[in-house]
Amino acid sequence: MKKIIITGGAGFIGSHVVRRFVKTYPQYQIINLDKLTYAGNLANLKDIENEPNYRFVKGDIVDLAYINNLFEQEQPDAVIHLAAESHVDRSITNPLEFVMTNVVGTVNLLNAAKNIWKGNYEGKRFYHVSTDEVYGTLGETDMFTETTAYDPHSPYSASKASSDHFVRAYHDTYGLPAVISNCSNNYGSFHFPEKLIPLAINNIKQQKPVPVYGKGENVRDWLWVEDHARAIDVIFHKAAIGTTYNIGGHNEWKNIDLIKLLCTILDKKLGREEGESAKLITYVTDRAGHDLRYAIDATKLKAELGWEPSITFEEGLEKTVDWYLANEGWLNDVTSGHYQEYYSEQYNNR
Ligand code: NAD
Ligand code: TYD
Repeated sequence: MKKIIITGGAGFIGSHVVRRFVKTYPQYQIINLDKLTYAGNLANLKDIENEPNYRFVKGDIVDLAYINNLFEQEQPDAVIHLAAESHVDRSITNPLEFVMTNVVGTVNLLNAAKNIWKGNYEGKRFYHVSTDEVYGTLGETDMFTETTAYDPHSPYSASKASSDHFVRAYHDTYGLPAVISNCSNNYGSFHFPEKLIPLAINNIKQQKPVPVYGKGENVRDWLWVEDHARAIDVIFHKAAIGTTYNIGGHNEWKNIDLIKLLCTILDKKLGREEGESAKLITYVTDRAGHDLRYAIDATKLKAELGWEPSITFEEGLEKTVDWYLANEGWLNDVTSGHYQEYYSEQYNNR
């Protein structure tokens, strides 16, 4: 019997991790701790919300007293920490919010775990989910390994880098049983349509311009979100305390090539003439401090824990496009902000 607090479980990746753990491990109690910001949506977990081993609690990881109290009451055996502000563009307009949630929120969780575990770390684990963006940007051929020096450029990646350092500091200083993984860009179902792939699908579908930053030459290494959730499962159960693993798909795409591929897929699926959707591609001003290339070397994860991606990018992208076309209601709700109004009504009086 294990009790696990998963933070950020109502978000994109968190909802896939919660679903996987709830379904795969009926003997675990899963508590989803989420503030339900604009990016958190309980509709992402409709299919498992009534499972007996699942519970949702609405809370803010920045609220120290609340977090300490929750940990005292629940006495979790483990934390899988995904809650974060996650969008680079938002971090450029509002960096402080990223410092609060990603840095202060993480330290609050580390401290709360340290306080209740009191140095008795048998069977305990603090798993911090991070990003490859902490490593900065690459040239044309090199790759990020677990020993690449941190060199973040955006307020988002700087805040994630800082949180990683705090997790390691709590391991090194207090012996907290921490593990960290740094993953490349994810894609798949329930991805909030401010990020490139769901934004492009939505705009192409609606015949709206598809904004390409700069020349569209920036490269990202895309991984199907369910493969990330499976990697988190493997690392959570098998990684030695104090270790770090990189997770990635060996799947590099220039933004412009990826958007053109999406246009081709959607032309076919929407019965448009070949080339019609590509007319929507619109070059816009580049993102400030835009990292040119990310690419993950996930050799360590494969060699030590046997994980590798389960599907190709073409399969994953096709599934993803199909999901967005079949789930128009979800997309309309999150783009209209309707679900945000619902949550403030639902939870404001608590
Ligand atoms: P997301 O923005 O979709 O979800 C974040 C979730 O955290 C939301 O449910 C939100 O309500 C919750 N949250 C935000 N602030 C909170 C707070 N103060 N207290 C409690 N909950 C709060 O993010 P995502 O894309 O699912 O990313 C999840 C994690 O994975 C993040 O830590 C991110 O840095 C990391 N990551 C993301 C990617 C990616 O491609 N999306 C890649 C590698 C790593
Ligand atoms: P994004 O999905 O925001 O992820 P990240 O910045 O964390 O990698 O962006 C992926 C890439 O796509 C990045 O190079 C920025 C670019 N981009 C666009 O060209 N247009 C857009 O509208 C968005 C949201 C991103």
